[in-house]
Amino acid sequence: MEILRIRGGTRLEGSVPVSGAKNAALPILFAGILSDQPSQLRNVPDLADIKTTLKVLETLGISVTRDGDRVGLHAKQLSSIEAPYDLVRTMRASVLVLGPLLARAGEARVSLPGGCAIGARPVDFHLSALEKLGAVFDIEGGYIHGRAPDGLRGATMTLPFPSVGATENALMAAALASGFSEIQNAACEPEIIDLAEALRSMGAKITGEGTPLIRIEGVSSLGGMNHAIAPDRVEAATFLCAGLISKGKVRVTGIASHYLGSALEVLGSMGAKISSGTDWVEAESTGVLLPAHLKTAPFPGFPTDMQAQFMALMTQAEGNSKIEETIFENRFMHVPELARLGARIRIQGNEALVEGPTRLSGATVMATDLRASASLVIAGVVASGETLIRRIYHLDRGYEKLELKLSALGAQIHRETEK
Ligand code: EPZ
Repeated sequence: MEILRIRGGTRLEGSVPVSGAKNAALPILFAGILSDQPSQLRNVPDLADIKTTLKVLETLGISVTRDGDRVGLHAKQLSSIEAPYDLVRTMRASVLVLGPLLARAGEARVSLPGGCAIGARPVDFHLSALEKLGAVFDIEGGYIHGRAPDGLRGATMTLPFPSVGATENALMAAALASGFSEIQNAACEPEIIDLAEALRSMGAKITGEGTPLIRIEGVSSLGGMNHAIAPDRVEAATFLCAGLISKGKVRVTGIASHYLGSALEVLGSMGAKISSGTDWVEAESTGVLLPAHLKTAPFPGFPTDMQAQFMALMTQAEGNSKIEETIFENRFMHVPELARLGARIRIQGNEALVEGPTRLSGATVMATDLRASASLVIAGVVASGETLIRRIYHLDRGYEKLELKLSALGAQIHRETEK
């Protein structure tokens, strides 16, 4: 088992390049199913979830090539319409094959993802949106089996909540359905905009992405995709938090400030000096870290994927902070692990009250999910002595070369194989 060993107490300073966004890359890779022509993607991060996605695509008979951050896909013919349990259980986003497979092949079988560490995470919104387009679903042997024997027809889909994944499935399916579709109450996340841009490079006719109303004029076939994945805003925020907790100055490059809107507002309110250019953002510690109150919400609200990292930062604020988690019902698993480092955090329902400032001291902790792991790394940067983080396969799902990037900023962090 691999672990991360961090010696806390060094000030981080410098600039760090941001990788392509995992959550943009995953749906865009699945969109490759929609065309029988070759697709080319750039800026694809090297992550465990990307490898799983490429395996799912290969299982469907799609030819996949990879050269550094470039991925080539060619779904000339599909040899299967099933995303198997063994792959889906390691990555819930596999449910994103549903829309593209129904649109391209008229049939899809995907293992039901089941619960996950951060909550139940059902897929009912995905299914009811695709039903509006004419798909019918059965659950058989733990699999969702969808069929669209007469093809998909454009329709109005109104999501009960602006779900990111349901918006993506609906958008991919509607791109190849006959006639007009509308997605009402659509998610507005930057990753949706990136998917729409990738689909447009295939010839899809989409307007309104980034707003709650997306309009799609279905086309009868789509060409190959040629697209560079947008930068990872969650990775960027993670580095900014790591820099600030160390009282340092970190610049993230390859990303514009609009990706980080609400996160930068909170960092500014906590006393950080924020500056930015066309493709960089910098956060510099002013020596003072003020407490904050934040509430996670769909974009442009504060992202749930940055909540754990901000909680680590709040342990060092001059006063008590509060976090309200409104997206997932169980996304505080990092709290007991942060407590092992000395943090004092009280959970009341969906709120966490973070006492600050507290002196953190190194200990052995366990990563429980992707962003929870990132919060432990950030805490480890400021904790006295050594922090050992176990189960870092969670981190490898979503952070490319994390320890190398942090080392380049001056952190003392090493990956080791535990005997
Ligand atoms: C995406 O998950 C991200 N994953 C998550 O990233 C992120 O936390 C989440 O959006 C919210 O921003 C990918 O993009 C691959 P949702 P997704 O559908 O699409 C409920 C990370 O760390 N819901 O917007 O699954 C759901 O349970 C992660 O990178 C239903 O009830 O999120 C949740 O409470 C993890 N029924 C809320 O909606 C449905 O059919 C938002 O979920 C769908 C969702």
